[in-house]
Amino acid sequence: MEIRDLRRSDGDELRALWRACGIRDRPGDDDESIAAMASRNPGLCIVGREGDRIVASALAGFDGRRGWLYHVATHPAARRRGIATRLVRTIEDRLRAIGCRKLNLIVWEGEEEAMAFWSRIGYRREKTVEYAKELAD
Ligand SMILES: CC(C)(COP(=O)(O)OP(=O)(O)OC[C@H]1O[C@@H](n2cnc3c(N)ncnc32)[C@H](O)[C@@H]1OP(=O)(O)O)[C@@H](O)C(=O)NCCC(=O)NCCS
Repeated sequence: MEIRDLRRSDGDELRALWRACGIRDRPGDDDESIAAMASRNPGLCIVGREGDRIVASALAGFDGRRGWLYHVATHPAARRRGIATRLVRTIEDRLRAIGCRKLNLIVWEGEEEAMAFWSRIGYRREKTVEYAKELAD
């Protein structure tokens, strides 16, 4: 598997991957938002490619205090081969190199398989509750 930075032109293929992985459409999944995040976070928004197909994604941002991970996903046909682990480890190394000391992510309630993955690769569940507000145009 080749790891490379996400490109604006990956949008359609990425959204298809996320749908196949059961990730619902989120604010920030449109081409413009994806491109903005990738350009603000060079090397932290990455895809895994096999042949001419994107089989996995992991998007991270660093706000100066914490790193945040989004859309870690591996196509159902490519799972349990260590692909998501490789992408996350790549991002961890790159974040560490730019001074990030803690990496956070959100798991939806009931996503037991995702929880098993994060626990397995060294992430701990925190006693926090998330609040959010969508900002309309
Ligand atoms: C979670 C997900 C990203 C894992 O991708 P992956 O490439 O298969 O993960 P890896 O092969 O690197 O898994 C590493 C380890 O995590 C654990 N793990 C991964 N998927 C698991 C599952 N479905 N159930 C239990 N443990 C799992 C295993 O211990 C695995 O090692 P093993 O295969 O040697 O037992 C993938 O299942 C996925 O895309 N799920 C849907 C989207 C999602 O939930 N993303 C996370 C958002 S928070």
